[in-house]
Formats: sequence, structure tokens, C-alpha cells
Amino acid sequence: MLAAEGSASLCRMDVRLEPWSESALALLRRTNLGGPESEDELLARHRRYLAMPEAGLGRAFVVRLGDETVGSINYHRRDWQGEEIYETGWNVLPPYRGRGVAAAAGTALIDIVREAAHAPGAPRRLHAFSSVDNAPSNALCRRLGFTLVGVCDFEYPRGSGRLIRSNDWRLDLDGPFRPGQNPGWA
Ligand SMILES: CC(C)(COP(=O)(O)OP(=O)(O)OC[C@H]1O[C@@H](n2cnc3c(N)ncnc32)[C@H](O)[C@@H]1OP(=O)(O)O)[C@@H](O)C(=O)NCCC(=O)NCCS
Repeated sequence: MLAAEGSASLCRMDVRLEPWSESALALLRRTNLGGPESEDELLARHRRYLAMPEAGLGRAFVVRLGDETVGSINYHRRDWQGEEIYETGWNVLPPYRGRGVAAAAGTALIDIVREAAHAPGAPRRLHAFSSVDNAPSNALCRRLGFTLVGVCDFEYPRGSGRLIRSNDWRLDLDGPFRPGQNPGWA
């Protein structure tokens, strides 16, 4: 179990990331990522998340707040504009939003991705793609220390052909910034 150590003292909350497991399917049903997804699409996503560690291309996590399951967060490798990058995505269940859960989970995830990025040949950058209209997600990117690169038409879910006008946020994994040291933190 991985604690959101960097943020716990700032947020004064017990947010932890747990590896994706069989029981996380229920969470996926509640979040309905990219939704509404069909049952087949949902199961395919679940299997993809379960297989991620073995494939070595990323990880998916359940976000826990104390004893509660409150969301999900993941990262994975992908090609983006001719470069191999890590991409991240997040989701907090509606009753738990606006309390700093995603900020704590995102900080913990960035620590994990920075570790993964030490592997030979690993991507050097973490990107997040948030719809230009998604104020909470864009605020989260800024708070976590991402830099806004520009606006793009981003396909989500991948392979769906559905393009969403999105902000392309980037975090340099070699950079001196450590989560929790962003001057933007309150
Ligand atoms: C985006 C999301 C994960 C944020 O989760 P959260 O736990 O509520 O976020 P936090 O409480 O940690 O807040 C993070 C930042 O967002 C801001 N924020 C939160 N809710 C907001 C709202 N409704 N409007 C504007 N900003 C908001 C917070 O103020 C904070 O920014 P700050 O540090 O500058 O003050 C959540 O809204 C969500 O799950 N949305 C649906 C899924 C989604 O859109 N995922 C993004 C796909 S990449």
C-alpha cells in the first residue's frame, strides 16, 4: 500500500493508493469513465488495469480515503506527437470531491511515476489531458505542478474516434520540482 506521504501533512487526510484488484470492478462501474461505457468496454478497461504491472507500461490504483474507496488514478506509456510519454488520468467519486483527495492522490502518483522513470528507456515526461471545460481537472494539473503546453483535440476514450478539445499539461520528470513544493500550494 502506498501512502500519499508528500501531501498527507498538507491535506491532513489519510489518502492512499492501492494497486488495482479484482474488487475494483465495482468502483469502475460507479465512475463510468469515458461513459457511459458498455459492459464489454468496462470489463476490457478492468482487465487492462489488472494487466498493467505485468506489461510494465504503467499502473492503475484505487484511491482510498481512510476506509473508504473514493476514486481511481493511473498512468501508462503512450506515443504522443512522436515521443513516448506517460499519461495520467484521475477520477474522484462525487461525494468526495472538493476536499483535496485528488491533490493528495496526484502527488502520490507523481512520486510513483518519478520512480518508474528511472528505468532505462522510460519516458521523461508525464502528461495529463483535461477537457478545456473541466475546471477542477485543470486546477488540479496546475496545483500538481504541470505546465500548460497548449490545446489539442484529444481522443477519449482511446480508439473511440471521439475528439475532445483538451488542454495538454506536461510535467518534466527530470525537473527539480518535487510535489508539495509547488509555490502554488496554499
Ligand atoms: C478532477 C477531479 C479528479 C478533482 O478531484 P477533487 O478531489 O475534487 O480535487 P481536489 O479537491 O484535490 O482539488 C484539486 C483542485 O481543483 C480545484 N477544484 C475542485 N473542484 C472544483 C470545481 N468544482 N471548480 C473549480 N475548481 C475546482 C480545487 O480548488 C483544487 O485547486 P486549487 O489547489 O488551486 O485550489 C474530480 O473533479 C473528478 O473526478 N472529476 C470527474 C473525472 C474527471 O474529470 N477526470 C479528469 C480526466 S483527466
